Amino acid sequence: MAESEKSSALSALSTESRAFPPSEEFASQANATADWYDRADSDREGFWAEQADRLHWTKKWDTVLDWEPPFAKWFVGGELNVAYNCADRHVEAGNGDRVAIHWEGEPGDSRTITYADLQREVSKTANALTELGVGKGDRVAIQLPMIPEAVFSMLACARLGALHSVVFGGFSPGALKARIEDAEAKVLITSDGQYRRGKPAPMKENTDEAVEGTSIEKVLVVKRTETDVPWTEGRDVWWHDAVDGASDQHTPESFDSEHPLFILYTSGTTGKPKGILHTSGGYLTQSAYTHNVVFDHKPGESVYWCTADIGWVTGHTYIVYGPLANGATQVIYEGTPNTPHEGRHWEIVDKYKVSIYYTAPTLIRTFMKWGEDIPAKYDLSSLKVLGTVGEPINPEAWMWFREKIGKDNCPIVDTWWQTETGSQMIAPLPGVTATKPGSAMRALPGISATVVDDTGTPVGNGEGGYLVLDKPWPSMLRGIWGDTERYKDTYWSRFAEQGYYFAGDGAKYDDDGAIWLLGRVDDVMNISGHRISTTEVESALVSHPTVAEAAVVGASDETTGQGIVAFVILRGSASKDEAKGEEAIKALRDHVSKEIGPIAKPRQILVVEELPKTRSGKIMRRLLRDVAENRDVGDVSTLADSSVMDLISSGMSESKED
Ligand code: WTA
Repeated sequence: MAESEKSSALSALSTESRAFPPSEEFASQANATADWYDRADSDREGFWAEQADRLHWTKKWDTVLDWEPPFAKWFVGGELNVAYNCADRHVEAGNGDRVAIHWEGEPGDSRTITYADLQREVSKTANALTELGVGKGDRVAIQLPMIPEAVFSMLACARLGALHSVVFGGFSPGALKARIEDAEAKVLITSDGQYRRGKPAPMKENTDEAVEGTSIEKVLVVKRTETDVPWTEGRDVWWHDAVDGASDQHTPESFDSEHPLFILYTSGTTGKPKGILHTSGGYLTQSAYTHNVVFDHKPGESVYWCTADIGWVTGHTYIVYGPLANGATQVIYEGTPNTPHEGRHWEIVDKYKVSIYYTAPTLIRTFMKWGEDIPAKYDLSSLKVLGTVGEPINPEAWMWFREKIGKDNCPIVDTWWQTETGSQMIAPLPGVTATKPGSAMRALPGISATVVDDTGTPVGNGEGGYLVLDKPWPSMLRGIWGDTERYKDTYWSRFAEQGYYFAGDGAKYDDDGAIWLLGRVDDVMNISGHRISTTEVESALVSHPTVAEAAVVGASDETTGQGIVAFVILRGSASKDEAKGEEAIKALRDHVSKEIGPIAKPRQILVVEELPKTRSGKIMRRLLRDVAENRDVGDVSTLADSSVMDLISSGMSESKED
């Protein structure tokens, strides 16, 4: 291919010289060691077979992998029951009294669920669902708050070989309806209401609207907020009637390794949400493996907490399947991090002596904004490993996490993966890797990822390009529900010749070959012919002491093609008036220029109170581009809070006037 095309891969601007190796003490007790990389490379299928042995199979597989690109089958011929693996077998191993879930409700109520309780609850739920007509291959939609019944429901579906489709509790009736219709779900599990920032909010009214005129035959309703709800006789069933009265004995059936486990919808950039399909044996294998090695999880010792919502893939893999397959003791928290106060997470860490804490960069930046004196009030000495997921983490936020939460004593694992990959793909091994603030480092043992240019050729160290996965992996998506063409087209057409999976993310290698994620390629800016990632400019801004969070976009510019427009949120301690002044803005622009070069100097910087984010916390740069280019703001239906756009737009016009 032509040179000109090659040069359009991403620029790599920032450099990072800090690296933090694990302490000797940590390294010496770690679950995975450095030799795992070579071991996995020299015999990938053997390596994955070894990982599959973490599970209980009722029939052993004949073949590890059957790969007919882009369709993979893992552990072919094997049979297992996923729910048995997540509950019963721990009880049978004598760990029935071990706590599976320390559940903390938003209003302050709590529940303790042991593995024996979990086995009973899942069995009862499975019996109740059978009674409601759910069987193998049926689809069950679930829209629930973060309550234990959400876990019971998912595992009960898995136990019956039914597919769950969990829809985030904050999604609108329209969004739920579209997902119910696409999957042709038979039963919906929901609740009367849900707590939102300390107050009960309705749920059943919305779900009633969603099920109207769909394939839903029965609605199973958990009582959570004790709110009065509309009721449709013959269709609606109370959880406490159907489940509490059901037998707690249930014999799990074995299913094929490739039996579908769940559908999870992901919105993608445009159009109809994609129903990402995952299956059983491969998904559970990689989920259990990564949860064990990436978090250095020790069953019976570690207290694990993943702060994601069950409605996202992180909640599926790292609240339900990975940890429970590994017999983990975990915390599940129902509410928001500032209810009733901004120290709630640290209070919970302190209360349950949490040792592994897995969260999102957006939340870390929010904690930074709230100020370090808040976590300082709590005893966080139980923490051993910290993890992040969902977005690139800015080096400054990483350092803050390390110092203020981990007290310089906890490895941080920045984990890159997607709904489509099913579980973690690129991440440090905490007992092995000398981590660099902001880098996901390298593909895990058994996984192969490469950064390539437009032509599919790997780029060199110090260069940027597109992140691809060049070998199949056990927890990979098996397709898009009902749309094979879209599956091939979305993920496999960009580098069809090479047969690479294209993740849609930009990335670079640093001088040591570590991988740095640079954001979605759709967000890349083109400044005077240089392709610059939003992530690097944002990180440069966040490295300034007054900035807590930043979002940058490329806005059309007569001279440079695009110009960089930045939106910044200040840290709690920064004086608003001073930091907003002309001098301060100039200082920020100069800071970016100094950190990563004059080419990346923002044309305009706007101080804002909030940024538009999806409900899972990802910044919606598309909307900011609309503002920066003075267009009417486009579709805001997936925004967590649509009013922030009005505020930002009005701030933008003010800044134009001065
Ligand atoms: C982004 C979440 C940088 C990325 C598990 C990916 C990340 C998308 C990271 C998937 C990370 C996730 N560093 N970027 N550690 N983790 N992403 O499907 O753009 O909600 O493609 O899955 O989030 O988001 P999803």
